Amino acid sequence: TAGTVGDELNQNVYVVGGFVRDLMLKTDNWDIDFVTEGDGIVFAKALHQAVGGKLTVHPQFETAVIRLSSHITLDVVTARREYYEYPAALPKVEKSNIWSDLFRRDFTINCMAICLNQSSFGDMSDYFGGMKDLQNKSIRVLYNLSFIEDPTRIFRAIRFAARLGFHLEVSTRQFLQQALQNDMIRRLSHDRIREEFLHMIREQESFHHSMTLMKELGVFQALHSGFIVQSHTLERLKGIRFAMEGFRQLSPSSFNQTVVMLMQIMSEVPPAYLEEVCQILVANQTLIQQMMKSMNQRDTIYHILKEDEVDRFTIYQLLRPHTEEALMFFYNDSDDPYIRHYIAFYLLKLRHIQLTISGNDLKSLGINPGPIYRRILDNVLKAKVLGTIYDHDGELKYAENL
Ligand code: CTP
Repeated sequence: TAGTVGDELNQNVYVVGGFVRDLMLKTDNWDIDFVTEGDGIVFAKALHQAVGGKLTVHPQFETAVIRLSSHITLDVVTARREYYEYPAALPKVEKSNIWSDLFRRDFTINCMAICLNQSSFGDMSDYFGGMKDLQNKSIRVLYNLSFIEDPTRIFRAIRFAARLGFHLEVSTRQFLQQALQNDMIRRLSHDRIREEFLHMIREQESFHHSMTLMKELGVFQALHSGFIVQSHTLERLKGIRFAMEGFRQLSPSSFNQTVVMLMQIMSEVPPAYLEEVCQILVANQTLIQQMMKSMNQRDTIYHILKEDEVDRFTIYQLLRPHTEEALMFFYNDSDDPYIRHYIAFYLLKLRHIQLTISGNDLKSLGINPGPIYRRILDNVLKAKVLGTIYDHDGELKYAENL
């Protein structure tokens, strides 16, 4: 359909980028990028007429998006040349042809185009050796300033290498490292860094691999000199998904896995730098404060829980102020069997214990309101958590149903 629409408008239309790469790799990709030689918005409007969906146009960028369903998106861009007024800036854009449009892109494997017009339907434009690099499993930039002009490509190179199991071609690796040495990554806004980081986390299968490459290439240290990531931290990252899956099966819960991953990746950052590193990776200030509070209390918690006999109420009081994500992080981060056992016990059992009586119940028993209410309720909660209560004869009663 896109080719026919292009023919009717007398425009050349190509499918490009990740879609072509994944087509060659026989992998599904429902984010389809079109490039038109001609007005992309006119093309997008006509295509929208033909295929339906929800159209959004961005006239200032000469781009448009048609959302066909929750997982099928068609992106249309007018073939353009991009140039950067200064490194790490957002690019300036100028109308152009398919060659220039491909040349502005990141890696050769993302720079192939297939023509959709009837007369040359299926013709592949591979000006930069993308097919060869796909075969060689190689991530290669098109020109040596690529990472300097757009340092987000540092993250993208790592993400693609990790996802596809490819290597960074020798000079590409050097260019990447030069960009890091020149501190290019610090010119990116926190928003852009965060977006790239979250992209990596979402690619769960390859997250451990991408973090390993980040460490190997010195990206963490380039982001912040206090962003220390040890090899054992990387090992622990591997465990998170399985640990969380295990807990989910035993007790329905809605952990935010990303938060657990972020806490684990920052687990070796010295306390003095923790807030600064958190500010790079997390936007939500309340979440930052929550994460920091838990991470700063980690050693105290481990110290108390590593004993072989800790009573239920101590565990309850110690862990209750922390979010499920923080508890999952403590669980995953510690090797100590006692610590793990107590945290699991809290997550699966103790945290569900709550008071089901209130001040009204005490009033109906004829007790005069006052500070005694708090003491009684606290003691009932404690008794419930401990699983024991004594009646007035001093006889032990089971209190969990109170
Ligand atoms: N692109 C680029 N430089 C960037 C971001 C994107 O050159 N910093 C180009 C690449 O050609 C890429 C295309 O824009 O293929 C689309 O970008 P995006 O959707 O982010 O990447 P995909 O390759 O589709 O990757 P994914 O499979 O992760 O969606």
